[in-house]
Amino acid sequence: MRSSPFGHFARRFVEPYGARETFCRPLRENDLHTISVIDLPPLYRTEFGAAHCGDSLQLLARLPNESVNLVLTSPPFALQREKEYLDRSGNKSQEDYVEWLAKFGALVFQKLKPDGSFVIDIGGAYVKGAPERALYPFRVLLKFCDDLGFKLAQDFYWNNPSKLPSPIEWVNKRKLRAKDSVNTVWWFSKTQWPKADASKVLAPYSDRMKKLIHDPGAFYKPAKRPSGHDITDRFGKDNGGALPSNLLQIPNCESNGKYLAACKLVGARQHPARFPAKLPEFFIRLLTEPEDLVVDIFAGSNTTGAVAEIEQRRWLAFDLSVEYLAASSFRFLHDDVSMKKMKIIYENLTQHKPMDLRHYFHSNDQLEFKQRLASGV
Ligand SMILES: C[S@@+](CC[C@H](N)C(=O)[O-])C[C@H]1O[C@@H](n2cnc3c(N)ncnc32)[C@H](O)[C@@H]1O
Repeated sequence: MRSSPFGHFARRFVEPYGARETFCRPLRENDLHTISVIDLPPLYRTEFGAAHCGDSLQLLARLPNESVNLVLTSPPFALQREKEYLDRSGNKSQEDYVEWLAKFGALVFQKLKPDGSFVIDIGGAYVKGAPERALYPFRVLLKFCDDLGFKLAQDFYWNNPSKLPSPIEWVNKRKLRAKDSVNTVWWFSKTQWPKADASKVLAPYSDRMKKLIHDPGAFYKPAKRPSGHDITDRFGKDNGGALPSNLLQIPNCESNGKYLAACKLVGARQHPARFPAKLPEFFIRLLTEPEDLVVDIFAGSNTTGAVAEIEQRRWLAFDLSVEYLAASSFRFLHDDVSMKKMKIIYENLTQHKPMDLRHYFHSNDQLEFKQRLASGV
């Protein structure tokens, strides 16, 4: 076995199948690697991160206090109709959901750096059998701020235009309620001053704004508006993009990403509640810098880790389900890895045999990886 930067954990990784012929390269020393943040061998590791299979309450407890820049996650929702999770232990009833989630929240608070953030995506639901909205997303918000000490840095709303109309009874059949197309995304911080830079997430200019920048005189005269906004001639300056809004319009209809294709080929079960890559991308860019540590405590198919890898942030992914994590490895494999090799990697991982995925991906393949982001990693 080649020399490795992660000491005694290296012995536990299985010999990479076929790595020698195709993707063999010397592994770079990296003292900053997340492998050194947690004293457990991961299920798999990449250049920047590591995935661990287990209960996040236990895994989080093993992280040093004040070591994490961003925890970004989507917990199992308190759904009336359970999602098809392989391991259903996370799907709590609405009543005990807030208390259950608060245990994770309290640990996250300890592990975040003072300028760190905790971003949590919580989908809404109805009270069982009635056209009445459940209040748990808001109860979570109040519990985290009132009892755990978090500040609400900002409330975000993720609009998914491709969401199917539901619940069928109230929306489709009886037409008593509008289609539900927004998830609440709470951005919590430890202080009022978390690290953040909105200039890293500028939105594309509208056509009208592009015309205005091209010819400001044709659109407005510099003046003070009744709103108090001082519209000077700098208003027409090209800042590289528009200020982002807290309404994130991101369709979740990625059907042709590498992950889904590989799941189909290998016969692995696809995660039923994946993030679109643009969602973690937005918060990772807004709230962290390269080499900062990003953790997803309910990682599922590890969209967060894959985006963090592209953005060159260190990352940790925790999930209870070894099948979901094993399939998430496909996000980190070079396009040329054969189906036979993918199957072996998947089978090794589902049997809890740790793997070093750097053998199947070059860091100088970042371009391929970035292109994948556009099609859903
Ligand atoms: C909504 S999914 C996350 C999906 C993820 N955002 C993605 O892009 O694939 C929630 C995940 O939490 C995991 N989970 C539930 N309870 C857990 C626990 N106590 N510790 C770790 N993972 C848990 C489930 O296995 C499930 O994969």
